[in-house]
Amino acid sequence: MTDNIYMPFPMKIEKVIFEAPGVKTFRLKFMNEDDGNKFNFKAGQFGEYSVYGAGESTFCIASSPTRKGYIECTFRQTGKVTNALSDCEEGSVIGFRGPYGNIFPIDEWKDRNLLFIAGGIALPPMRCVIWNVLDLRENFRDVTIIYGARSVKDLVYKHELEEWKERRDIQLITTVDPGGESPDWKGEIGFVPTIVEKIAPSSKDTIAIVCGPPVMIKYTFPVLARLGFADDDIYTTLENRMKCGFGKCGRCNVGKYYVCKDGPVFTLAQLKDLPDEY
Ligand SMILES: Cc1cc2nc3c(=O)[nH]c(=O)nc-3n(C[C@H](O)[C@H](O)[C@H](O)COP(=O)(O)OP(=O)(O)OC[C@H]3O[C@@H](n4cnc5c(N)ncnc54)[C@H](O)[C@@H]3O)c2cc1C
Ligand code: FES
Repeated sequence: MTDNIYMPFPMKIEKVIFEAPGVKTFRLKFMNEDDGNKFNFKAGQFGEYSVYGAGESTFCIASSPTRKGYIECTFRQTGKVTNALSDCEEGSVIGFRGPYGNIFPIDEWKDRNLLFIAGGIALPPMRCVIWNVLDLRENFRDVTIIYGARSVKDLVYKHELEEWKERRDIQLITTVDPGGESPDWKGEIGFVPTIVEKIAPSSKDTIAIVCGPPVMIKYTFPVLARLGFADDDIYTTLENRMKCGFGKCGRCNVGKYYVCKDGPVFTLAQLKDLPDEY
């Protein structure tokens, strides 16, 4: 990082992947090789991605820290900056500053079973930790991924879902909302919390990582409680709007936490300590 804490690294868009309507993944390479060699991050962290003249947006780093030489982000077009980003092409240069925030404590999850539950565009923060875990597969016991989207076309990372489906050392369950299936759909049909209840994964020695839209999270937590998961063993990420990203501006404050510094990764036990709207 340069001496100016707000100064972004210039990053070249090496690859653009169309994931779903309005959703793209960028593979980014540091323009300055030395910056790239010094750069380190851990699963769960995020950055501020900028388009010159448009502003900055917060996205998680969606690639795994075990894959060196590049970072990836996946974003949905929602407004000013994400529209400007979406107009960028392979070879364009954008800005990135980070990494910021806390991490998924995967070192503490050694020898536990892992249950990943994701909905829609919330797979990116989880994809980082899933690849991190798969690259260190021998450290963990059973790995189960339950991923749902509104419709088949809204599933992101379709190529990787195919790859995960073929693997014998993980169990992948995909689902789409009722009415979102295509004629050749072979996955489940139903909302994510319903499918979690149906699959009923064991809570014994299991860590659950849940990322998704608020409504999915709201209905999934009680299912996990019924399955016997302790609040300390359930992790999620918060996506409060941010500005500085490292605890200076107060924009992301909630209760006693700055989400950018104390989060974005929280356990359900920590969230239960927050004001009611969370
Ligand atoms: C830690 C963290 C990680 C994130 N990771 C990702 C990611 O990997 N991929 C991704 O697509 N998005 C992610 N987001 C959300 C993303 O930051 C916003 O969608 C994005 O900044 C919108 O920028 P914009 O300028 O295009 O939209 P704006 O023009 O600023 O806003 C467009 C609309 O989106 C709403 N909006 C903007 N930011 C947020 C937000 N944080 N939460 C809810 N609504 C918002 C606005 O209220 C408005 O309605 C993350 C947010 C945080 C805090
Ligand atoms: S975004 Fe500035 S304090 Fe968190």
